[in-house]
Amino acid sequence: MAEFRERGLTRVRCPTGITAWLVSRYPDVREVLGDAERFSSRPGQAAHVLRHQDPQLPVMNGDFTRMDGPEYQRYRRHFGPEIGMPKRLAELRPEVRRITDERLDALGERGQEAEFYHEFAIPITTAVIAGLMGVPYSDRQLFHDAAAAMFASGTDEADIKRGTDPLFAYVHQLVRRRRADPGEDSISRMIERSAAADEPFTDHELMMMGASLLISGFDTTATVLTHSVLALLRHPEQWRRLLDDPGLVPNAVEELARFFGGSPGLTREVTRDTEIGGQPVAKGEFVVLAVQAADRDPHAFTDPDRLDVGRELGEHLGFGYGTHQCVGQQTARLEMTVALETLLRRVPSLRLGVPPEEIVFKSGTPVVGPAALPIAWDAILPAEEGR
Ligand code: HEM
Repeated sequence: MAEFRERGLTRVRCPTGITAWLVSRYPDVREVLGDAERFSSRPGQAAHVLRHQDPQLPVMNGDFTRMDGPEYQRYRRHFGPEIGMPKRLAELRPEVRRITDERLDALGERGQEAEFYHEFAIPITTAVIAGLMGVPYSDRQLFHDAAAAMFASGTDEADIKRGTDPLFAYVHQLVRRRRADPGEDSISRMIERSAAADEPFTDHELMMMGASLLISGFDTTATVLTHSVLALLRHPEQWRRLLDDPGLVPNAVEELARFFGGSPGLTREVTRDTEIGGQPVAKGEFVVLAVQAADRDPHAFTDPDRLDVGRELGEHLGFGYGTHQCVGQQTARLEMTVALETLLRRVPSLRLGVPPEEIVFKSGTPVVGPAALPIAWDAILPAEEGR
């Protein structure tokens, strides 16, 4: 990637067949993400790697991720506060602690080894988003299947329909039930807030928001958390630093989001002839923003390829930047912080269960990280004792 950064913008042919400008310098990526007027989200955020995200397809009613301007803001203003507000997050923290402790108790009862991604990270992030949306944990397969279809590079429209239709039908039903009988969950609150708005949302639009949050709300965080634990265990001096000073965890989470966040790229479409970093780009062309490369730009971060949990960080792009930046970033930060704090407190002997070279990584998805992470430990301390 260093070579691409040196060159500035590079013309590339993407796996989905579209031709685009690859943008990898930090200031250029930030400029594009920060200017939704010149650079539209209409093609879909991963149109360069997801075959089903065809930029030629019309934007589906309720697919806010492909909208711009006031049309987009109508959605964002509505669901953003639901998962990003400090009050909501404060309410969520004890719940995330409880879920994390229960998971560790269950693993401790079973023995001294486990597979971190499927047996720790995914169950926690799934339980958190399900809880937020008021969906029983036992119904998780519906949004796991939908996410598997949405985040697989090879799926076509028929696969997407098969993967998402059952979830859409389910969330649609849920919206109707909550309209009649509201609860404390995010869907009920969105319905309530929408009813008071100038332009209330239809059941279909509310369904799209609920389904999107369920689909986007578990695997990215679980993957970044898994990748993070792998990195910390491979750099024992960093793990030790956190054991010695757990107060560093929120900073470590930021550093880990810089290191592993951002997805391999975000696609935008140029809306008028302009330039990026001195390179002319024309209306209608696509740009792919190599967020992870930008977050390792040595002009933005000192010694950027070194993981440093104590680093004084400037603003990284791991959760995106500008209008469409990750709406779940505070939830993700909270989950990662609580998970790491709990692991440090209750499982200080945590180690890899296999040599690092045996760890297999996911392929065919923009959510990049270990496909599985075997771990081992000497003892899991009880939740009360560890506090
Ligand atoms: C470490 C975990 C996560 C990472 C690295 C991450 C990363 C990102 C990035 C880079 C974007 C920007 C996309 C763009 O500009 O086109 C984004 C958007 C989004 N994220 Fe996350 N995310 C994470 C966790 C979450 C969680 C927990 C949720 C839900 C609770 C979530 C929901 C969303 C949604 C709905 C969008 C689309 C926003 C829009 O287009 O308006 N994400 N995420």
